[in-house]
Formats: sequence, C-alpha cells, structure tokens
Amino acid sequence: MATHKILLLPGDGIGPEVAGEVSKVLAWFTRAGIARFETETDLVGGAAIDAHGVPLSEAAMDRAKAADAVLFGAVGGPKWAGVPYAKRPEAGLLRLRKDLGLFANLRPAICYPALAEASALKRELVEGLDIVIVRELTGGVYFGEPKEIVTLEDGQKRAVDTQVYTTGEIERIAAVAFDLARKRRNKVASAEKHNVMKTGVLWKETVTKLHAEQYSDVGLEHVLADNCAMQLVRNPKQYDVLVTDNLFGDILSDVAAMLTGSLGMLPSASLGAIENGTRRALYEPVHGSAPDIAGQNLANPIAMIGSLAMALRYSFGLLEAADQLEAAITRTLAAGTRTRDIAGPGTNAVGTTEMGDAIVRELQAQGR
Ligand code: NAD
Ligand code: IPM
Ligand code: MN
Repeated sequence: MATHKILLLPGDGIGPEVAGEVSKVLAWFTRAGIARFETETDLVGGAAIDAHGVPLSEAAMDRAKAADAVLFGAVGGPKWAGVPYAKRPEAGLLRLRKDLGLFANLRPAICYPALAEASALKRELVEGLDIVIVRELTGGVYFGEPKEIVTLEDGQKRAVDTQVYTTGEIERIAAVAFDLARKRRNKVASAEKHNVMKTGVLWKETVTKLHAEQYSDVGLEHVLADNCAMQLVRNPKQYDVLVTDNLFGDILSDVAAMLTGSLGMLPSASLGAIENGTRRALYEPVHGSAPDIAGQNLANPIAMIGSLAMALRYSFGLLEAADQLEAAITRTLAAGTRTRDIAGPGTNAVGTTEMGDAIVRELQAQGR
C-alpha cells in the first residue's frame, strides 16, 4: 500500500480546531487499513509569526514542496492586525499558492438534501444544487505589480493594485473548467467584466477562442461578474461550472457558500499543473479563521473534512475512500447532526469535536 505524504498546516483561530477533526478521519482510514498516511504538522499564519517572525518559514515551505498534498486550516485574526503588510498571516497562504504554482482552485458548492432548509434562500432554489466555481488562483489583482501605497507631493496617499492576466494564464484555467464540465453537466459559465476592464476583454476573447478550437462540444455562456453574483442568488441551479478570475472567484465563492447553508460547508482544492503524472496540491476550507467563534468548539468542521475528501480524490487516487467520506458526511447530516451554523432556530447543535466524531462513526458504520 502506498504511503501518502501530507503536510498539515492548521494555522490560526478555528483552523486548528477543524484540522483536529481531519486528523481523526485520517487516523480512521489508517486503522481501517484503507490507506497509509505520513503526516507532518507545521505552523502557518499568525502561529508562524509568533514562533518565527514570518507567516511561513522556509522549512515549512520545503516541507510543502516535498509533500504529496498540503492540508490547510485557516489563517489570520485580530492579534496580528498590526504586523507589516508583507508579513501578515494571509501572506503565508498566498506564498504557498504562488510558489507551489496552484493556479486552479476548485470550490464545489453542494446543497446536501438535509440542509436545504439551512440556506438563507428558499428550499426550491437550492435543493439539489451542485456547482463548482473554478477560481484562477495565482494571478490577477492578488499578485499584479505595482502593488503599493505612495505618498504624493500634496501629502495625499495613493494606493495601487494591478490586475494582470496573460492569455496563457487564462487558457490554462479555462481548460480546467472545460475538462471538469465534460465530466459533469457539460456547461461552463465564464464571469468577467469586459465592459469595464481590459483583463475582462482578454479573458472573454481567450475563453471564446479556446472553446471554439478545443471545447466546442461544451456549452459556454459569458456573464458579467456583477450579474453573476445576482444570478447565483436568483437561480443558482442554472450553473454547472463557473470559471472566473482570482478576485471575482473569492467573492462569488463566499456567495455560493451561503447557498449550501454555511461558509462552514465549502471545501476547496488548489491544484498545480500536471507534471510527470503528478501535481502539487493544497486543500483548504473556503472559510477563514472565524475569530468570532474561535476556541469555543463551535466551528463546523465539514468544509475541512470535505477538503480531505477532495485530497483523497485528486491527490491520492483514493476515489472509493473519497466517496465513502462524502457519504459519511451526507449520512451524518441526514441523521440530524448539526453544528450551530447549520442548525435551525430551536434545533440542538453539537460542537466541532462531536461533529467530527459523528462523521467517523458513520465511516465505521459504512465499513461494516
Ligand atoms: P471568516 O470566514 O473567518 O468568517 C466569516 C463568518 O463565517 C464568521 O461569522 C464566522 O464565524 C463564520 N464561519 C466561518 N467559518 C465557519 C465554520 N467553519 N463554522 C461556522 N461558522 C463559520 O471570514 P472573516 O471573519 O472575514 O475573516 C477572519 C480572518 O480570516 C481574516 O483574518 C481573514 O483574512 C482570514 N481568512 C482566511 C482564510 C484562509 O485562511 N483561507 C479565508 C478567509 C478569511
Ligand atoms: C480565501 C481567502 C483568501 C483569499 C485570503 C485569506 C488571502 O479569502 O481563500 O477565500 O482572498 O484568497
Ligand atoms: Mn475568501
């Protein structure tokens, strides 16, 4: 049996809490003889700043490069509000994405049947929802230069962020979206703002050309990103795969999260290019460190556990184990187990650790 090398980076706030539940699931797969994992743990974000003065040490970066997959919790929090911009907790995550070349961020938003009532939207709008946002993750305004604040002669300050995309960057993320759509309902919507932004013009042009040349069997629709945000709330089930840039993808995926009931439900996979049959990858929940609920056993660990399911599928080739884990999540929810974020008013909620335990019990029950 192959050994899968994992680097676990719990991070800050609820990061370590939800990462703890993933460790339980990994331990179960090992005990059950389904897979073998070699897990190392390191610091990232504020925790790394406190220990090393930087949000990601060189040693942690080297370990990330050597791992088959990185499992990441969340970073950030008010404690580090005063640290210099270049060393803020979030910079650790951005460096991992950039230096590991993780350009393709898959953010599936699935509304579990048992949670149709937990969404802020009406049941009929979200029931059966199954969409994937494909977010470009290593380009755009997150990384474009210049990125600076300068003081002008009259004493005012001027801040600049730069949105940059090349055809190559657009083509490779669009190809990921088209390939994924072919395995699903064969529909891609591409969101940009070509009415305002030059990057939007190039984005639309490049996606259209790639579609005509290599993916004309896949349905393609172009949508302006602001309209897309509205459509996601008006009628989310019209979409299958939604491809967009780094910033729009960040925002649209938080919108999509609420269609599933909670930000605590959304997993993600950040993937690099395939080289010699393998690819670098990092798996993380879409949510942040949730300082408002950290340390209280209130966080929903499903986004993080769902991210592990994506790692089993995309990095370790353990497709059956991934299905098993997702089925265990479905059954746990169907049995009525809820953390506070997905519990309706007056419904009993369990804590983070109890939710993790319940999912492991369901895995165990399925195994019999
Ligand atoms: P957040 O995602 O941390 O929290 C937003 C809201 O959702 C909060 O009310 C929180 O309690 C709730 N929430 C989030 N995850 C939850 C879960 N698993 N279970 C239950 N409720 C959950 O966003 P924020 O408050 O805007 O940001 C807090 C910090 O996290 C900031 O420093 C931000 O930069 C950082 N952040 C990090 C990541 C990451 O590490 N990938 C992602 C987003 C935000
Ligand atoms: C996310 C987060 C990050 C982003 C932050 C923490 C850098 O919001 O992964 O969605 O903006 O990409
Ligand atoms: Mn975000």
